[in-house]
Amino acid sequence: MARVLSGIQPSGQLTLGNYIGALQNFVKLQHEHECYFMVVDLHAITVPQDPELLREQTKTVAALFIAAGIDPNHANVYLQSHVPAHAELGWLLTTLTYMGELERMTQFKEKSAGKESIGAGLFVYPALMAADILIYNADLVPVGDDQKQHLELTRDLAERFNARFGETFKLPEPYIPKVGARIMSLDDASKKMSKSNPNPNSYIAMLDEPDVIRKKIRRAQTDSGREVKYDPENKPEISNLISIYTHCSGMSIPEIEAHYEGKGYGDFKKDLAEHVVNTLAPIQERYREIRSSGELEDVLRRGAERASEAAEEMLRTVKEKMGFVI
Ligand code: TYM
Repeated sequence: MARVLSGIQPSGQLTLGNYIGALQNFVKLQHEHECYFMVVDLHAITVPQDPELLREQTKTVAALFIAAGIDPNHANVYLQSHVPAHAELGWLLTTLTYMGELERMTQFKEKSAGKESIGAGLFVYPALMAADILIYNADLVPVGDDQKQHLELTRDLAERFNARFGETFKLPEPYIPKVGARIMSLDDASKKMSKSNPNPNSYIAMLDEPDVIRKKIRRAQTDSGREVKYDPENKPEISNLISIYTHCSGMSIPEIEAHYEGKGYGDFKKDLAEHVVNTLAPIQERYREIRSSGELEDVLRRGAERASEAAEEMLRTVKEKMGFVI
């Protein structure tokens, strides 16, 4: 049984991109592996957050994990800030990380572009992410395509630590879906679908009402022509919608293409909207139940207790190897 770890930031509405790129795989992996799924609230504060909104959004994301199908009796579901060992290992690994490595991170470049004052937390963010993963010696990390570079740095840090202090960390592997690892914006398929995009029509939020979803899909950009064909290079807009279709319907891409042969984008979009609504509606219903039942706090407390046990043990090993008095 492998160990699986992943996290999602509570820095806004979760999108269909988060669901397809990450959350759907969390649900798939939980039955075969020992899983750690957390809401990475310490990462969220690397950009300014409103305290009340952060608290609310953190609970929303945790509830969405469970609503999407993660069984908290199978997988550990918790908040990153409830397991302080993450932050401590994060600091230890920061001291092994080179400025040049952090400067090369695409996410840092994107998030800091055009900003006058850039928080140091945003810069050292990947060392904390490496700590999240290495503290459990995770084998597999289900993420979307945009996290690949952070995973590579995590492996480099693990190797560097092992070389300096002796074999300690396993090298984790990314687990990235073949299609859907990068769901693009509905208004521009050259940009990633993102919860931080100020235009809400560019993304589908997991908690969007059915009619809002229908409207957003109706308005989504399409390419010229009318052929429903998966061709990301020449037809990026429609290929993006096909990626969403395949994940929400269970139909393969060739099946989708065959089904819409001779039909236009209109029919395709109408059906796509219904598949997305049917995927999200049960999750939304379960989400509302979880939020009103009060079960969440208990789940998060238990998750953090179990995660802390494993994390504390690894932290102790690391500190001993680095020369701290234990
Ligand atoms: P975050 O919160 O930006 O995104 C959470 C997960 O969703 C994936 N994702 C997407 N996948 C496909 N298409 C998209 N448009 C899309 N947008 C987001 C992301 O790749 C990610 O898997 N640094 C991480 C959080 C993190 C983490 C970790 C992840 C912190 N510690 C340890 C794994 C392991 C982040 O910012 O994800």
